[in-house]
Amino acid sequence: MDDKKLNLAVFISGRGSNLQSLIDACRDEGYPAKISVVLSNKPDVPGLQKASDANIPAITVHHKDHNTREDFENAMLAALKDYEIDLICLAGFMRILTPHFVNQWPGQIINIHPSLLPDYKGTNTHERVLADGKTETGCTVHYVVPDVDSGAIIVQKRVPVLEGDTPDALAARVLEQEHIAYPEAIALAVKEKA
Ligand code: GAR
Repeated sequence: MDDKKLNLAVFISGRGSNLQSLIDACRDEGYPAKISVVLSNKPDVPGLQKASDANIPAITVHHKDHNTREDFENAMLAALKDYEIDLICLAGFMRILTPHFVNQWPGQIINIHPSLLPDYKGTNTHERVLADGKTETGCTVHYVVPDVDSGAIIVQKRVPVLEGDTPDALAARVLEQEHIAYPEAIALAVKEKA
C-alpha cells in the first residue's frame, strides 16, 4: 500500500506551517502521498524542527554557501538523489528556481502562493491587495514553470478582505485556507498522474 504513495520532497525557507499541514495530511493512511525529505535553503528555521519532530529526513542547502544560482541548484539536485522523489512541493520556499532546475522536473514541482493568481504574483501580496482596495483575495496551488507564479492552477481558495484588515490579519486568514488547499492540491495532482 505504502509503495503506491507518491514520494514528496517539501522545500521550505522558514516557519513551515504549510509543511505541517502536509505532515498532518500524510498521517492519514488513505492519503495518497508521503513526505520523504524536507529541504530548507536556510539553516535553523522552525520548519526543520517540524520535520525532525515528525521523523522526516531534513536537509539544509544554504544558498549563501554557493556562489551562483546554478551551484546552489546543483547542490539541491544532488541532495535529492538519495530519495526517489515524484513531486517537489514548494511550501514557503523563498528562492526563485531557474529553468536549469525546473526543466529537470517537468510537471513535478508545485507551489503555494498567497494570492488568487494570476493576480499579485511575487512578494508582499497582502499589502498590495489592501492598497488596491480589493474585497477578495486567497491562495493558489499551481504547477511550477520557468516563469515565476505562472504554471497551471490546481486549487484556489477565496478569502474575503474585511473592513480594517491589516496585512497580518489578512495573511492569517489566507494561511488557514492554504493549509486546506495544499493537501487537496497534492491529492488532485496524484489523480492527474494516475
Ligand atoms: C505562505 O503564506 C506561503 O503561501 C508563502 O509564504 C508563506 C510560508 O508560510 N509563499 C510565498 O509567498 C511564495 N512566493 P509557512 O512557512 O508557514 O508555510
